[in-house]
Amino acid sequence: SITLEPEQQGRARLIMESQTAAIDQIEQIVKEENIDCDFMRLPGFLFFLPDQNDEAQKEMEACRNVGLRFDEPQNLTDVPRLTNGRVMRFPNQAQFHAIKYMNGLVEAAERRGAVVHTGTHVTEIEREDNYVEVETHNGHKVHCKDVLVATNIPISNLVLIHIKQSPYRTYVVAGPVPKGSVTPGLYWDNESPYHYVRVQSETDHDVLIVGGEDHKTGQEEDTDERFNRLEAWTRARFPMLKEITNRWSGQVAEPIDGIGYIGHEPEKGKHVYIITGDSGMGMTHGTLGAMLVRDMILGRDNPWEKVYSAGRLNLKASGELLKEAVNMAGQYADHLTPGDVDSVDDIPVGEGRLVRRGLRKLAVYKNRDGSMHAMSAVCTHLGCIVQWNPTEKSWDCPCHGSRFDPNGNVLNGPAIDPLKRVNLDD
Ligand code: FES
Repeated sequence: SITLEPEQQGRARLIMESQTAAIDQIEQIVKEENIDCDFMRLPGFLFFLPDQNDEAQKEMEACRNVGLRFDEPQNLTDVPRLTNGRVMRFPNQAQFHAIKYMNGLVEAAERRGAVVHTGTHVTEIEREDNYVEVETHNGHKVHCKDVLVATNIPISNLVLIHIKQSPYRTYVVAGPVPKGSVTPGLYWDNESPYHYVRVQSETDHDVLIVGGEDHKTGQEEDTDERFNRLEAWTRARFPMLKEITNRWSGQVAEPIDGIGYIGHEPEKGKHVYIITGDSGMGMTHGTLGAMLVRDMILGRDNPWEKVYSAGRLNLKASGELLKEAVNMAGQYADHLTPGDVDSVDDIPVGEGRLVRRGLRKLAVYKNRDGSMHAMSAVCTHLGCIVQWNPTEKSWDCPCHGSRFDPNGNVLNGPAIDPLKRVNLDD
């Protein structure tokens, strides 16, 4: 049995309320703006492994403590069974098509006069006396009163946030299944790493989407093996899936205590805000983050502010913080290890490899025509050694999740600058 201290219980309740409010807010926006994004209410199912009775018990007690509604169905016949262990069912969850929803949001915002710029690389965010200055890659400067950095992993912050969260890669496979053959629902299990399942309805078939097999960014060489394991897991449970038509991986920021960071950016003080640490719940987290930051900018009290504060210190999570710090420090040892290959001749076409040149480590990509693009392998954020990601064809940093394209251009912060180009003959 678990007992939550009153303070913990209060925080857990606020988290539950904020997530629930985010779902309600999305539903309301969809209705008011008439956004055609397949929004539907449906239940969520959490499956425990057969030997996880204790975990199931604790989870149920924690939910009861904060008043989160669930039941434990005994005979599940019409929904897929991910495990043979205990199951919790959460009513009134929701799913929607994220891209369709986002397009609807952009249209609604533009109708109200907002201007949306894409492909604009921000290189600096600086707080001046009366305003915040945002500089873009071509030298333009925008002055504003308040800035919100909502970039998965913040680019405005050099250190403080990055030691409190870790970047993970997550893998997804998808393919068509006969219409109605898998009951729509949110399904996930309690394995480590865990799996999650969704169903998207199309006109004459459904699409089964299965994800999981997460690992720390830049800390797994055989990414194909992750896909193989995910496919085997999926085929064992969904025999109606004949063909996998899509597979991809994405990046998830995992905060050390599992709760995102929303609010004042701790290195920049007032008027610069962040939303990060989505922990795989970016749809609700992004929404509740916007609601919270809106209130902070307008000077309204919001009970969620303290829970999500980016500057909070959670002593209960300090063991986790230490583990992460040790893992991160270990990544710097990569400066001393040999390269992936002895010679650039051993790099396959269309692939990247690390090559040692004296004291330096180089990230070398071989183009389709056999020409080579060589860069320093030192990440431009805080100096870890990037690793080649053969699935996404990118250079990924194992320390705080920066990602670069084969030619070293930034795909994902916190790095702002590209990998430094070097001459292979030097
Ligand atoms: Fe921080 Fe690379 S992301 S060192």
